[in-house]
Amino acid sequence: MNRRKFLQLGALTAPLLTTTKSFAKKLDQTTKPIVISTWDSGMPVNAEAWKILSASGSALDAVEAGAIHIENEINCCVGLGGYPDRDGIVTLDSCIMDHHANCGAVAGIERIKHPVSVARKVMEKTPHVILVGAGAQQFAIENGFILESNTLSNDAQNAYTEWLKKSEYKPVINIENQPAVQAGKKQNGPFAPNFFEDGTANHDTMGLVAMDVKGNLSGAVTTSGMAFKLHGRVGDSPIIGAGLFVDNEIGAATSSGTGEEVIRICGTHLVVEFMRQGYSPEMACKKAVERIVKRDKAKAKTLQVGFLAMNKKGQYGAYAIQKGFVFSVKSNNENQIHSSKYIL
Ligand code: GLY
Repeated sequence: MNRRKFLQLGALTAPLLTTTKSFAKKLDQTTKPIVISTWDSGMPVNAEAWKILSASGSALDAVEAGAIHIENEINCCVGLGGYPDRDGIVTLDSCIMDHHANCGAVAGIERIKHPVSVARKVMEKTPHVILVGAGAQQFAIENGFILESNTLSNDAQNAYTEWLKKSEYKPVINIENQPAVQAGKKQNGPFAPNFFEDGTANHDTMGLVAMDVKGNLSGAVTTSGMAFKLHGRVGDSPIIGAGLFVDNEIGAATSSGTGEEVIRICGTHLVVEFMRQGYSPEMACKKAVERIVKRDKAKAKTLQVGFLAMNKKGQYGAYAIQKGFVFSVKSNNENQIHSSKYIL
């Protein structure tokens, strides 16, 4: 090739190379800060977390603030306004985990408004990971938390009164009922979700994962657990590796749905391990859901589990057993609700 031709070719390919380079750079870019959370009720939760993330605060503070926000909702299935167990008692589960694999949790705690903050105190002030029941409540009170009234919220009382007519424990698929959420319709009945004024619904579990400007990951989960459960039942939400797992080298994951199925497969730990093997967050969640379905397909058809994950690049994804699992994302690029893919 003579010099003239070479220069001509160079002039033609230069823009192409620049485009390829900038495309590669874009692919390589990390989205941070970013917060993702389960369900459409994650939108206000993300907004709260974002106040901290956007001011260069830590992912740990952000996820706690997000969880506190939804625990404050009086007619919500997550905090003290949630549905009680079969004995009419609201018991709350929560956990939190940071980028050093520090973690804390409370399970079956009663009459404490912010279990996520008690979980953080367990993480920061004790050599333990999980406190349960009366011991968790005692620890909370010793650390300045107020013992709240044990009166059920109006919605919870109505649902419980209705449930007592049959007293039948049965997890309901998509209690969240996404089509109704989209239509902004109010549902009736004991398993109907509550609705915020903006038309979004609230659900039995709030799990969120955030990455801060430094690239550190943290996560938190808070829930009143399955409505009308046996007194003393603990779901996946406060179990590290089931309802939440964070590995700052790889990524983080959280879950929502029937906790027993998530515990059986150490669900979020499994999702993170799949990401370690190189799977995208969405594929990692899919493979964990497949594990549940493979074990007992007939049973899986009767229940819902959704996983939500983020990797160190701020890429995220979700997968569920059934249609209807949605999640919320907030970053500098977006602020929206996504529908998860599903298997059955
Ligand atoms: N995923 C919430 C629970 O099973 O309690």
